[in-house]
Amino acid sequence: MKRLYWILAAVAAVVFVVAGWIIYVPGPTAFASGSTVALGDYKDTNPTGVPASLATADLVTRGEYLTRAADCEACHTAKGGVPYAGGLAFKLPFGTLYSPNITPDKETGIGNWTDAEFLNAIHKGIAPDGSRLYPAFPYPSYTLLTNDDALAIKTYLFSLTPVKQEAPPNTLMFPFNQRWGMMFWSLFYNSNDRYRPNTSQSAEWNRGAYLAEALGHCGECHTPRNLLQAVDNKKKFAGAFTAGWRAYNLTQDKTTGIGSWDVETTAKFLAHGHVEGLGTASGPMGEAIDMSLRHMTPEDINALVVYLKTIPPIPDTSLPIPKTMLASTFPSDHEIDENARGAKIFAGACAACHGWSGKSPILTYADFVGGRTVNDPTAQNVAQAIIWGVTRHTPNGVVKMPGFGNAYSDDEIAAVANYVTARFGAEKSSITANDVKKISGQASQ
Ligand code: HEC
Ligand code: HEC
Ligand code: HEC
Repeated sequence: MKRLYWILAAVAAVVFVVAGWIIYVPGPTAFASGSTVALGDYKDTNPTGVPASLATADLVTRGEYLTRAADCEACHTAKGGVPYAGGLAFKLPFGTLYSPNITPDKETGIGNWTDAEFLNAIHKGIAPDGSRLYPAFPYPSYTLLTNDDALAIKTYLFSLTPVKQEAPPNTLMFPFNQRWGMMFWSLFYNSNDRYRPNTSQSAEWNRGAYLAEALGHCGECHTPRNLLQAVDNKKKFAGAFTAGWRAYNLTQDKTTGIGSWDVETTAKFLAHGHVEGLGTASGPMGEAIDMSLRHMTPEDINALVVYLKTIPPIPDTSLPIPKTMLASTFPSDHEIDENARGAKIFAGACAACHGWSGKSPILTYADFVGGRTVNDPTAQNVAQAIIWGVTRHTPNGVVKMPGFGNAYSDDEIAAVANYVTARFGAEKSSITANDVKKISGQASQ
């Protein structure tokens, strides 16, 4: 009998440790060696705030820079809607959540909010009426922001024209519509700590960490989540699926991450969303570059790269080494036989812009060769780009690919997506109409 108790106790202890390990998540910069100090005790250049070139600018200008760096616009703007007026739909497995209006309208926006109320939302995910906000609003990242930076963002938002617009009501199912439940989630997953510089790393690294973790919230998309939907930093930046898109491996793994990109290449990709031979950022990453990263100073982009270069490599075995060779100028008979439908659509609707070889005849942004997207055998992002189209601001003006979601059936979209990966990628995909339907339903819009 006594023995049985011991066995049960041992099993309980193991379950407890395993559950603890699953639930436990290290901090976003815990991978780096060295010790951290409170900001006030840090002797090197302050990693927070705006870059030196803006140090003497007025508060609204500084707030604007930080608001862009935090990319509040991407989530708080409905497709085709007024920036920051909210209404973007987040499709979750248990219903739809809409982003609220954060313009200074007093009735439908945040025009009545005090500084303390704003800080409470940004740092703790608590609304003025005491209700809990869902972490689709990335406050577990923004909690690292200093009060000064958060309030500079508020000052910028309050300088905008108020827009009267109520977000549609959420349609979350029980029990997910019970906001108080987030209290327990926050207890585990919101440190409610401001950024602590690491004294063993350079000032530039610390600036990069602040940009990536507190402002840019890269991990919210690029890091896999645990069972409780918290960003799992045990697999930091190892790649994840988010809102129907795949955010690729950002670790320094040389073949499946970005470890083979040198500093200059990485900086160029972040500033422009495109590097010849490495493809183009589309979808949510295209937006992050459009609305956020392209507005950063070169010093800040470099700091971000310094930081990214220290992320420990984690391989993603589901991704092949990208094919870097150009495809043939014309498809072979065999290739057409394999996917006649896809080939026909590509010839009629895509080749004029994208070309047959993977190098676009008209625009380098439309090059496919070497890009991760066409080398992803899930073809998820390829299908999404086809469905929704892509709009980008480049240094030479706006570049646009039309969306084909209304023109083609899910079956046709699957066929042409499979054609694109087979022709331009290392491994062909075999997605179906059902896959297309599923992922297009997951996209925020
Ligand atoms: C990844 C998407 C995303 C980003 C980025 C984002 N938000 Fe939000 N935000 C949301 C969602 C979704 C909600 C609604 C959460 C809820 O209903 O519980 C929200 C809620 C809020 C609220 C609460 C408003 C209210 O009426 O209760 C404020 C304030 C806010 N966000 C401000 C910001 C600011 C400032 C930024 C940039 C620093 C920002 N958000 C960036 C998605 C985002
Ligand atoms: C809203 C989600 C989201 C956020 C936030 C985000 N990314 Fe991405 N990222 C993606 C997606 C999706 C892709 C794939 C895009 C494609 O297929 O064109 C991507 C692609 C990339 C790539 C290209 C990877 C490759 O192998 O081609 C880099 C580099 C990158 N992101 C860096 C960053 C950095 C740095 C940040 C933070 C400053 C960041 N991302 C924030 C979603 C996001
Ligand atoms: C009017 C020109 C045009 C047409 C027609 C067009 N595209 Fe595009 N496409 C582009 C441009 C430009 C981009 C890059 C946008 C950017 O910079 O983000 C792009 C991006 C893409 C991407 C994302 C690439 C990446 O690396 O993330 C895919 C996939 C794609 N197109 C497939 C197609 C397919 C399939 C068709 C036909 C059904 C098609 N396109 C038709 C211009 C076009």
